[in-house]
Order: sequence, then structure tokens, then C-alpha cells
Amino acid sequence: MKAPAANQGKQGLFVMVLFVGTAACTKGRAKPEPPMTLVRPASQVVVKTTREPILDAGQSTLDSGNPAIECPLAKQGIHTADLRPFKDTEKYIAFLERPDRVKWQRPDAIVAALALVGNETVVDLGAGSGYFSFRLAAALPRGSVVAMDIQPEMVRHMHHKAMTEGVQNLHVVLGKAEDPGVSQEADLVFVCDVLHHVPNQPVWLGKLADEMKVGARLALIEFKEGKLPQGPPENLKLPRTKLIELAKNAGLVLDTDKPNLLPYQTFLVFRKP
Ligand SMILES: C[S@@+](CC[C@H](N)C(=O)[O-])C[C@H]1O[C@@H](n2cnc3c(N)ncnc32)[C@H](O)[C@@H]1O
Repeated sequence: MKAPAANQGKQGLFVMVLFVGTAACTKGRAKPEPPMTLVRPASQVVVKTTREPILDAGQSTLDSGNPAIECPLAKQGIHTADLRPFKDTEKYIAFLERPDRVKWQRPDAIVAALALVGNETVVDLGAGSGYFSFRLAAALPRGSVVAMDIQPEMVRHMHHKAMTEGVQNLHVVLGKAEDPGVSQEADLVFVCDVLHHVPNQPVWLGKLADEMKVGARLALIEFKEGKLPQGPPENLKLPRTKLIELAKNAGLVLDTDKPNLLPYQTFLVFRKP
């Protein structure tokens, strides 16, 4: 069956993005690049995607005259050839970005509820496809977003999207499962649908709270209990009372509680006193 014209256009763009992404990481591997800007010590890699859009009309992405594109994974010794097949990753990205999600996820209402001034540093921890990262970046004209995930495939996707869309205030970081690794620069740590994936939640949240600076906020979003059209299995869910208990035990205080903001999820914001 022939795809509709609009879809063909989207597919064309997708293929171009994939091509550019692959070329970017291949280039990064073939040719050593100047040292990148690290905003965290240790083994985590932070790449500042501060380039202009690279898909200028008529310009070859493999033109040797173009500057080398930083690949966050190659810099950490991870090669794209070692990653999961893109088809598998694509399915997860499509799941996170599914069009109906906006109706109940209410990302714009969430960003508004965070009451950002516009110059903050926000860490989107467990950013996935960057569903919130790109929206948060748009809400921070003088600030920036650090989008972190432990899956290199997601890091690759967000990095390429930021490059091809010319998003200059979004920095992508490959994190570690056992260490949140949040920068002291963070004014807000945003954690949506991630905590129930973490095996040792008290330890992980304790480390996160230790890493946060005094006054920094932590936004936690998790699915509510009960039969809902969306969300993880019941046994993985973290009820509101449990979230509050976990955060308090980590040394954080409740700052904002909006029980009716989202139909299926709890929205809580804590602060480090
Ligand atoms: C359900 S997705 C949510 C993605 C995104 N926050 C959103 O709302 O669209 C969970 C993400 O958390 C990431 N994740 C799981 N455990 C993590 C950990 N310990 N540290 C950082 N990210 C983690 C996964 O790789 C996955 O991309």
C-alpha cells in the first residue's frame, strides 16, 4: 500500500535524521575530536549540542568541510554498531511519543506546574526519547536541560534530534543505573515514570538527594494505583504515600502537591532544605 504524501515526507525526514546521526557517530569514531565540555566529573559524558541545524539545503552532511559532530557514545568507547538494532529502539521511542499520550500526560500543564523562571538548569533524569526534555528546553530561553538516560540508544536518539533540530540548550548524558549522577548545577531534577524502574529506590533517591544542591527541587511523576488504561503492572506502581515516604527518608521536603493535575499519575515536587 502506498503511504500518504504526508507520511512519505515524515519518512524522508526520518531517514535523513538517521543518516545524519549515523554519519555523526561514524565521523566521531574515525577522527579524534577536541575535548568536549564536561559539566560532571567521573565517567559520564556530557555533550553540549550547541551547533546550528546541520541539514542546510544543498549541503552534504559528509562534506569534509563541515565541522566534526560530537558523538556522546563514541567518546565513551561505545560504538553504534554495538547498540540494539534501531528498529527495536524505534518501537520504544514510538511508544513514548505515541500521539494519544499528550491527552493524559498533559506535558504543557506539567511544564507550567513546574513554575520555571526560564534561566534554570533542569536535569531530565531517565529522559527516554526526550519527550519532556525538548519541551523543557523550549521553556528555558536562558537556561538549559541535561537529558540523562542509561540506555545508549536513547542517548543517541536525543543527541541526533537536538542536532538536527538545532536545539542549543539541550545537553545529552549517558548515565549509570546505580548512580543518578546529577550535577550540582541542577535547580530542578525531573523524574517521570522512572523511579518504578529503579531496583533499590531508597538508596538511589538517597544518592540523588545528596547530589542535589540546597534549594534544588525534585519533581516525581508516577502512575496512580488501580485499574487504568495506561501504566506499569500494579505490583510495580509507587503510591503517592510511598513516594512521599521515600523522598522524606532521602532528606527532601514536600514543596508542591497537585493531586488533580494528571488523570493517571501522581505529581509531586520536593525540595532539598
Ligand atoms: C518509561 S521511560 C520514561 C521516559 C521519560 N521520562 C518520559 O516520561 O517519556 C523510563 C526511562 O528511564 C530510564 N531509566 C531506567 N532506570 C534508570 C536509572 N536508574 N537512571 C536513569 N534512567 C533510567 C530508561 O532507560 C527509560 O528510558
